[in-house]
Amino acid sequence: MGPGSGDRRILILSTRLASGYPICVMTLLGYKETGNVTKQNANRAVDIPAEPAATPPGKTVDESRVVMAITMQPPDANSWGNVHGGTIMRLADEAGGAAAIRHSRARCVTVAMDSMVFKEPVYIGDLLTIRACLTYTGRTSMEVEALIEAEDLRTGKVRNAGASHLVYVAIDDLGRPTPVPPLVLQTEEERERWRAAEERRAFRVRSRP
Ligand SMILES: CC(C)(COP(=O)(O)OP(=O)(O)OC[C@H]1O[C@@H](n2cnc3c(N)ncnc32)[C@H](O)[C@@H]1OP(=O)(O)O)[C@@H](O)C(=O)NCCC(=O)NCCS
Repeated sequence: MGPGSGDRRILILSTRLASGYPICVMTLLGYKETGNVTKQNANRAVDIPAEPAATPPGKTVDESRVVMAITMQPPDANSWGNVHGGTIMRLADEAGGAAAIRHSRARCVTVAMDSMVFKEPVYIGDLLTIRACLTYTGRTSMEVEALIEAEDLRTGKVRNAGASHLVYVAIDDLGRPTPVPPLVLQTEEERERWRAAEERRAFRVRSRP
């Protein structure tokens, strides 16, 4: 198919996308005919595969581990200099999300975040470090453990500021859950974390709204 006919197909796409007409999407190599469109996604041309995506090969915990460190600034804190709990939760979600994306190499959304206890206060000027790693994978979901510590940069004293478990779901271009690589467990500690994650998952399934 030449560029001329491809141009015409793209015009049809822009006017009749909702009615399920056959469409073409441009590829780097030229023009490629695809199946019928059944769903719109922000006016973008999307190719909906007929078959569900296959499960990708497994990946180890180390392949997606994330360490994120940020010095806390005045906008992160209240007027007494204590860093907001919401700031810490957001950073835990960012680090956890990065680990989930690294593992799946897909778009990920947060579907659950366990309750979080702030064990020690964090102050302006502290270096907040989040260590995030995968503990469990389901078919399309991933649980990530986020450990949070705060370092007083002048004294070097490090405090354990808290921890949380977050669940992410990998999604395709249409926002549908898509398979993630299974987690390859290499150490007894990783296997122990997996077993604990299975219990949390069972609890979440029972309490799912
Ligand atoms: C995440 C989302 C796509 C899942 O959609 P869904 O219709 O519930 O999909 P499914 O029932 O097929 O579940 C998909 C996976 O999510 C998991 N899941 C769904 N709800 C969950 C919950 N409340 N807690 C934990 N896991 C959950 C399922 O167990 C399943 O995992 P698995 O494939 O590993 O077994 C949908 O709930 C969503 O878009 N939520 C909003 C996400 C968001 O906007 N987050 C904030 C910004 S990032």
